[in-house]
Amino acid sequence: MIRRARPADAPAIHALVHRYSGRDLLLPRPLTDIYERIRDFWVAVEAGQVVGCAALRIWWHDLAEVRSLAVAPEAEGNGYGARLVDAVAAEAKRYGVTNLFALTRIPDWFERRGFEVVDRAVLYHKVWGDCASCPKRNACDEVAVVRPLVPGAAERLLHPDRQLVRLVAHVVPPRPRGVPERPDRAPLPVFVHEDR
Ligand SMILES: CC(C)(COP(=O)(O)OP(=O)(O)OC[C@H]1O[C@@H](n2cnc3c(N)ncnc32)[C@H](O)[C@@H]1OP(=O)(O)O)[C@@H](O)C(=O)NCCC(=O)NCCS
Repeated sequence: MIRRARPADAPAIHALVHRYSGRDLLLPRPLTDIYERIRDFWVAVEAGQVVGCAALRIWWHDLAEVRSLAVAPEAEGNGYGARLVDAVAAEAKRYGVTNLFALTRIPDWFERRGFEVVDRAVLYHKVWGDCASCPKRNACDEVAVVRPLVPGAAERLLHPDRQLVRLVAHVVPPRPRGVPERPDRAPLPVFVHEDR
């Protein structure tokens, strides 16, 4: 069964995320953060136990992220992962959001579920909101994938409104110095406000 998470599910969600964050497959999340964001989560429940989870994060009017997607190894292969993503996608759509994205190391799994690989640069809200402060910045090995929730939505994402890009760049502070760079990875895009 897939259902919305409840506060009582938070420790099980935390344990699940922790299992994979230790293997560098998910970002770790403190338990307090999971309680705080519990309304963003969906869970897969089998025999009364939480065996899967996924969360929605809305970034912009046309962009949301599915994150903290995890299914316990003993419950894998039963379609929980796909159904959790579908639940998050449906929730995003209910809010009128038109694209759902993920940053992932398993892009082929997402591609088989209606996502397409895109350049991370088009996710400028994410890049500036999260990636800018991530220790792995400029050494990130995750691939951006997007699922349009209405026809044509991905096209608009790929050809963004430059005014919005400038708006986002304007409110985000310049990146700090001293973060190690990896020459084999393209640096994250730097959008500069033209008036600066
Ligand atoms: C990815 C994950 C959520 C899939 O959950 P699931 O419930 O097994 O997913 P589904 O049952 O819907 O899909 C199963 C299919 O995915 C495939 N699959 C499972 N793990 C995979 C992986 N790491 N890479 C590629 N494909 C994978 C299975 O082989 C199966 O293929 P099939 O449909 O051809 O039989 C789960 O394996 C997981 O939690 N992985 C670790 C955390 C992670 O990587 N999360 C994604 C972060 S963006």
